[in-house]
Amino acid sequence: MTHLIIYAHPSENSFSKMLMDELKQSTNGTNKVIVRDLYSMNFSPVLGPEELANLKLGIVASDVKEEQDYVQEADVISIVYPLWWASFPAILKGYIDRVFSYGFGYKAGEKGIEGLLKEKKVLLHTSMGNSIDDYQKNNLLQNFTFTQGEEVFGFCGMQIIKHFFYPQIINAEDEEKNHFINDTLNFYKDLFQSAVN
Ligand SMILES: Cc1cc2nc3c(=O)[nH]c(=O)nc-3n(C[C@H](O)[C@H](O)[C@H](O)COP(=O)(O)O)c2cc1C
Repeated sequence: MTHLIIYAHPSENSFSKMLMDELKQSTNGTNKVIVRDLYSMNFSPVLGPEELANLKLGIVASDVKEEQDYVQEADVISIVYPLWWASFPAILKGYIDRVFSYGFGYKAGEKGIEGLLKEKKVLLHTSMGNSIDDYQKNNLLQNFTFTQGEEVFGFCGMQIIKHFFYPQIINAEDEEKNHFINDTLNFYKDLFQSAVN
């Protein structure tokens, strides 16, 4: 199995970095793990006029093509990011804009829009400042899964396996952070195990 981790956090000492490192290490071994660290790659997130026009001609920028090859190779894709203004950090939003583009992520078929990345499994990992209760009051967690998961990766035909939320992470003690991470790693153990069996 190939596990692709798309990681978008600028800080070395964030919870997201801790989590990404553990995911990378724990799923290694019999699997191939690829990490795309968008800030360290200095990924350009702006889908500009020329690139947008080129999409219609089937011309894909070389940095985007490289990312699309990684996505194509992946069986499981983990997206690790902090919640910023109730959404993705801009660098990740731009990655999605550019990489999951028309002709690669989806196309217009006879029955309407068709996702092209079927069979791929996606897990979202969102750290956040607010508590679960803060967001549940307005049903926002389900909405985040809808707008950040289903309407993006699901739109491209991928299966959203789980959306992990890590609440109040700014004030969390190490013990709590480790607890979150252990729960997540256990889930991955089962996921990779069931894929092998
Ligand atoms: C620009 C910015 C916007 C943020 N917006 C939100 C938000 O909308 N909701 C929220 O719960 N936390 C928000 N936060 C807090 C981050 O989600 C939080 O700092 C982060 O998840 C902490 O995890 P980390 O250690 O992985 O950075 C924001 C932080 C920044 C810097």
